[in-house]
Amino acid sequence: MKLEVSMSPLEISPGDMQGRVVAVIDVLRASTSIAVALGHGARSIIPVESVDDAITRSKQFERGTVRLAGERKMKPIPGFDMGNSPLEFTAEAVGGQTIIISTTNGTKALMSLQGARDIVVASYVNLTAVSAMLRAAARAAADISIVCAGTEGHFSLEDAACAGRYVTAITKADASLTLNDAACACALIDRKYGDNIAKIFKDSNHGQALSEAGFADDLVACAAVDSHPVVPIYQERQITRLGPDRER
Ligand code: MLT
Repeated sequence: MKLEVSMSPLEISPGDMQGRVVAVIDVLRASTSIAVALGHGARSIIPVESVDDAITRSKQFERGTVRLAGERKMKPIPGFDMGNSPLEFTAEAVGGQTIIISTTNGTKALMSLQGARDIVVASYVNLTAVSAMLRAAARAAADISIVCAGTEGHFSLEDAACAGRYVTAITKADASLTLNDAACACALIDRKYGDNIAKIFKDSNHGQALSEAGFADDLVACAAVDSHPVVPIYQERQITRLGPDRER
């Protein structure tokens, strides 16, 4: 079986994801915020491309049951209920709500994937829960792809390091998997930093930009390994939490 990493969605050709189990990583901050929102009781999360799509889609919901979230250039989208800071997705703000979200890289990466068997949203805050799901998929003879959202099509250090953590966690249980070069490189980056995730964010372009823009507390939340042990599954254009009502 294969375990492959793509450093950005731009590396993926139509058909590449056919029948695969795919994990999408956008540690800073979309993947983290999605896991935190589901961990705090959000009903479902709907990624959309544009601000207009978000507003149009929200009109299909009963007033008071939907919240608009998202960022552009890291800042909250004007007129939306919340930005993309995981600290905003509290139980009070999202409990029982449907969240319609649009971000620069993370939601775009999710929506770009065609033909995958399963799509799961991965980050550090749900590392163990999602790794267990991916290991089960490997045991069931599925090929696995990890797609880094990156930054506007470019390599991002934090997504690569997190992808490396997943590669390490999956291959620990099954060393027979065939890795591509990107998967090997990501595992090396993860090994170099070890548990010092704060240092990864400090060294990364997007981590520095978020810190300079006043979102330093978000970096702490995004580095909190296993703080939100949920498995967010993207299917039929929405993300819900794998659980009793969604057994697979
Ligand atoms: C993204 O999707 O590009 C990121 O999550 C942006 C951010 O929240 O800083």
